[in-house]
Amino acid sequence: MIGIAEFAELTMLCDERGIHLFSDEVYHGLERDPAGILPQAADLSERALSLNVTSTSLGLPGLRIGWITCRDRALLSRLERAKHYTTICNSAPSEVLTRIALKARGTILDRNRSLIARNLPLFEEFFAEFADLFEWRAPDGGCVAYPRYLGPEGVEEFCTRLVEEAGVLLLPASTYHSDLTPTPTDRFRIGIGRDNSEAGLAAFAQWLRVKR
Ligand SMILES: Cc1ncc(COP(=O)(O)O)c(C=O)c1O
Repeated sequence: MIGIAEFAELTMLCDERGIHLFSDEVYHGLERDPAGILPQAADLSERALSLNVTSTSLGLPGLRIGWITCRDRALLSRLERAKHYTTICNSAPSEVLTRIALKARGTILDRNRSLIARNLPLFEEFFAEFADLFEWRAPDGGCVAYPRYLGPEGVEEFCTRLVEEAGVLLLPASTYHSDLTPTPTDRFRIGIGRDNSEAGLAAFAQWLRVKR
């Protein structure tokens, strides 16, 4: 997570240069340390865009609703026209359910933060057992971690074998390749926000014990 002061500097730097900062804030509300919670970029800057969705912190991906907050109304209007060009409308029932979820945001976030807090020790224990194979760091915010795989065959082959032989699906670094910027080649994405992590970790650990 970027620090609060650094984030404010970034928004200022973009403002001074006429850049629209597009800030993906979909894990807002799942920070481990409430002292580090960032403001919305759109609150700091006239030009910045803050993206949010129901899929992540609220844990309601089935609603398929997201939104952008921005004070630049001309830009919002251009975005709205682009949206109408690609889809006729949102699902109205999903919009109603989203409003209900947002009103209950505090309760839902408490539940999801406790889920992560309950899961974290399971992941700590797992990665401690296989410390020679992984470089693990618990996320400071959100429900997704991106550990490094240290084995000689590389993370792509490792993830392929893991899903084929143990039925455990992890997303390897190539999924996050970008033509715009260098990205790590030895990491994988693993979710820590589910309420059934035990079964997945047990199958993963069992496979590793046999493999070694
Ligand atoms: C960083 C980030 N941004 C945006 C999204 C948006 O997800 P969706 O399109 O499913 O609402 C996700 C979902 O995992 C995400 O991880």
